[in-house]
Amino acid sequence: MGCKFKKMKKIVLFASGSGSNVENIVNFFAEKDEVEISLVLTNNPKAYVIERCRQLGVVCQVFGRKEFRETGSVLEQLQGIAPDLIVLAGFLWLVPREIVKAFPRRIINIHPALLPKYGGKGMYGLHVHQAVVDNQETETGITIHYVDENYDEGDVILQTTCKVEPEDSADDVARKIHQLEYEHFPKVVESLLL
Ligand code: GAR
Repeated sequence: MGCKFKKMKKIVLFASGSGSNVENIVNFFAEKDEVEISLVLTNNPKAYVIERCRQLGVVCQVFGRKEFRETGSVLEQLQGIAPDLIVLAGFLWLVPREIVKAFPRRIINIHPALLPKYGGKGMYGLHVHQAVVDNQETETGITIHYVDENYDEGDVILQTTCKVEPEDSADDVARKIHQLEYEHFPKVVESLLL
């Protein structure tokens, strides 16, 4: 007789700000026994994601640049957890090479534009949507991609689009993008785990 228990899949999330995608992913997997959110990590001690995690009952830890880039303690902690997937959900720092190398094709990011457009350092959140509006784009969207050593350059897993109307402000675009993210991001995470 085979073992009827499948191994629990583990996710670690990184976030730098509000954390609405973190909350959405936590809620998506809340009823699914085979997936566990092991940890949420943030580089920003003022990030609202910390409060969201407290309310959700998920462990959230703050780390600094030194632990991320110099002492290797974030890498060590990740290796201790051995997550099946590391998910960057609104995380703004470049991931150090050692961490990328330790988790080949097991780190993914969501970017709020259709890469390679509007990517790279400094292109995050409302900056992206303002640039889209300023350039009078008629379409934008989201990109979910593997993470490599450069900002926003790894292989694309999924892109989906939405329309930008002439009267849309950057905030309007942000709302449309968040809706796309909430709909697609958890499903992509799930598809990569199962
Ligand atoms: C999301 O729109 C995400 O795509 C973007 O930050 C937002 C975080 O929102 N990520 C980037 O811009 C990465 N370059 P949230 O904190 O509410 O999930």
